Amino acid sequence: MADTNFLQIRKLRKEYAGTVVPAVADIDLTVGEGELLALLGPSGCGKTTTLRMIAGLIDPTSGTIEVGGKDVTRVPVHKRGMGMVFQSFALFPHLDVSANVAFGLEMRGIKANERKARVTAVLERVELAHLADRRIGQLSGGQQQRVALARALVVDPSLLLLDEPLSALDAKLRESLRVQIREIQQASGTTSVFVTHDQDEALSMADRVAVMNNGVVAQVGTPTEIYERPNSVFVATFIGRANLFDARVTNPGVVEVAGLGTLGVATSTSASPAAPSGTVTAMIRPQAISLAEVDAAAAESLATPARPVYDGVVRSTSYTGDQVAYRVDVAGSTLEVETTATLGRLHGQGDRVRVSWNRDDLRLLGD
Ligand SMILES: Nc1ncnc2c1ncn2[C@@H]1O[C@H](COP(=O)(O)OP(=O)(O)OP(=O)(O)O)[C@@H](O)[C@H]1O
Ligand SMILES: [Mg+2]
Repeated sequence: MADTNFLQIRKLRKEYAGTVVPAVADIDLTVGEGELLALLGPSGCGKTTTLRMIAGLIDPTSGTIEVGGKDVTRVPVHKRGMGMVFQSFALFPHLDVSANVAFGLEMRGIKANERKARVTAVLERVELAHLADRRIGQLSGGQQQRVALARALVVDPSLLLLDEPLSALDAKLRESLRVQIREIQQASGTTSVFVTHDQDEALSMADRVAVMNNGVVAQVGTPTEIYERPNSVFVATFIGRANLFDARVTNPGVVEVAGLGTLGVATSTSASPAAPSGTVTAMIRPQAISLAEVDAAAAESLATPARPVYDGVVRSTSYTGDQVAYRVDVAGSTLEVETTATLGRLHGQGDRVRVSWNRDDLRLLGD
């Protein structure tokens, strides 16, 4: 059975010399065998520092790192057997593709015929076998990054560590490489940690996402957990868009929002509940709100505490082919609403609409 704690990080901390605030402040993380964990967060939150401590490139101030049950905290980088892919490709420009990929095997003293077989196999996996004899300078950015990936994978690493490997590439290429890296990682079953500040990248590639902020892990969960059940205002607004309301808890599962009145909220929320009299932040995703024509049959009779219905006026419409984002004025608030576009049916500015949502999609957040 796969080890669910294959990589286990305990109370890992880094204080750089001459700084007062720790770059990484006592974080705990686990990554299961074969899993891809994304470390996601804004610039400077400590992602690279964390990854480099796992790799052995930076000495932690305190805390431990275990891989497969073995404490590697003090093991030097070249003895950890990890594969690394960085934002800059860091390939040898004067060598061809094969020689770049073979480099790590040579360093490990692997014999020429085995080297050749392993290089051929990994180049097939990243779909570069036909370019084995090309110089690095004669490759596109995406091809170079696949060489870097092949070079990391060819040594059968205990862990594959990737630090923003796609950020130097253009948007189209980034998206196709996302899919390729994920397929290759799944096929090889290599336990991986992937650093990114791009939420789409994290959500689309990872088994689980650890959202970091100011050196701490704000939340860890599957992409759907993180998106649908953020535990804080920070996570809710860093990942995707969110409508936020100041709310007052009146009863368990019920809040009062100025202008919108009494609303039901999801009761399974993971956020710490505020004192009954305290104010909290309630959140609903733009995709969880539905819009209907004002004259839609029986809309009025559908309104219940579990499914509130409001009259609103469209303030703006932004159409991107498959999706439509609306801003709708409702009872003194402007709501962001996102729907799948239906051919030939858009609401325009000034249209009167009915807005509704399910109680369980309105969630309470911590700070
Ligand atoms: N060598 C260093 N000496 C002192 N401070 C450092 C050093 N390297 C990083 N820092 C600081 O540590 C914090 C975390 O940096 P880190 O590079 O881990 O962030 P990051 O999340 O990878 O950011 P980015 O998305 O910009 O790459 C930052 O405040 C940074 O300025
Ligand atoms: Mg970084």
